[in-house]
Amino acid sequence: MEKLKVMTIFGTRPEAIKMAPLVKKMEEYEEIESIVCLTAQHREMLDMVVELFDIKPNYDLNVMKHGQTISDITVKVLKGIEEVLIKEKPHIVLVHGDTSTTFVGALAAFYQKIKVGHVEAGLRSGNIYSPYPEEMNRRLTTNLASIHFAPTDGNYNNLIKEGVDEKNIFITGNTVIDALLSVVKKDYIFENQLLNNIDYENKKVIVMTCHRRENWGKPMEDIFTSVKELAQENKEVEVIFPVHLNPNIRSLANSIMGDQENIHLIEPLDYEPFANLLNKAYLILTDSGGIQEEAPALGKPILVMRTETERPEAAEAGTVKIIGVEKDNIKEGVNLLLNDKYEYEKMANAINPYGDGAASKRTVEALLYYFGLRSERP
Ligand code: UD1
Ligand code: UDP
Repeated sequence: MEKLKVMTIFGTRPEAIKMAPLVKKMEEYEEIESIVCLTAQHREMLDMVVELFDIKPNYDLNVMKHGQTISDITVKVLKGIEEVLIKEKPHIVLVHGDTSTTFVGALAAFYQKIKVGHVEAGLRSGNIYSPYPEEMNRRLTTNLASIHFAPTDGNYNNLIKEGVDEKNIFITGNTVIDALLSVVKKDYIFENQLLNNIDYENKKVIVMTCHRRENWGKPMEDIFTSVKELAQENKEVEVIFPVHLNPNIRSLANSIMGDQENIHLIEPLDYEPFANLLNKAYLILTDSGGIQEEAPALGKPILVMRTETERPEAAEAGTVKIIGVEKDNIKEGVNLLLNDKYEYEKMANAINPYGDGAASKRTVEALLYYFGLRSERP
């Protein structure tokens, strides 16, 4: 029998982290021929993950350039993937989440009349400009996809409300939990000496990340200024900020926070040390999407510097607070968790609305079912 030819397309760090367990899982199935196409919308931050999970890409479009715009990525990825699809003719293309690679990968497949499976489908903030452009990327990808892998019941319901046929939606959990569980270890030792030398017991370690497009400019300036003031006012705090490789973010972070002794601006970390750092932190301050899913699983309070989220589950469960991007709100949110033990304990609960570590397996089984290679719906 002909094998099911599945082409997985991804290009940024978070997509790689969340697609890696799925690619590895597909390798276990004889019925599947798995092909990986990297767009390399990110370069170093993508390669770190690809190496960690020992993924051997079949194609690498190498599109990244410094200062790239959304249109730059769109044009290069669309043209690059077209060629690969014409050559490989997969039965299905899998894309993940909400980046430009996701949407354009799905569009390129549609133009070739190749089916699209959307992993991490159905998340919605309700505002097309926040997260920007991710909310629209995700909605457009829904329209291009034939199969939708929804992490949660809420994501499933969002798709149903938009008229997606229930028979094409599978609730799988989020593969980020598969990835997280594979790298977080008790008593983890960092290679980075700065991280090893931090006194996680007696200091209050805040792990911070910040990169969203809608926060560029004034909101990001306010975020960095509030963190600097918090660090000045709370000597027991150590802020660790692995700074995204976007040059604009790096120069702003350096100019505002660079000389504060208890703020450590470091290079992006490999996924394994980063996940273990989250696990040792006192609290997390971020505008990231994926970290909103990881921190709750580790029982870490997380303050989200955004005005909206497409991931309401952990906020509803009390582990995540959406604190916005205003200076006063950020300082108030952090100070409360630094000084009020009761408030801290209330948020420091390990909850896991995003999966049990078996999302990749469910996704593969759903794929096989969809193509008639399994009789039972997973
Ligand atoms: C992209 C995604 C965003 C995702 C984020 C994860 C879009 C429009 N944006 O945003 O959804 O949350 O990735 O991090 O799809 N750079 C490097 N090396 C790298 C990665 C980035 O130097 O490995 C620099 C480059 O100068 C690049 C810039 O960062 O031009 C921005 O990268 P880009 O992918 O355009 O935007 P992100 O903000 O990373
Ligand atoms: N991450 C990492 N190293 C870092 C910072 C983040 O491996 O230095 C991981 C993090 O654990 C999460 C993912 O990268 O899984 C989040 O990526 P990012 O914040 O770039 O994108 P988003 O999730 O906002 O789309």
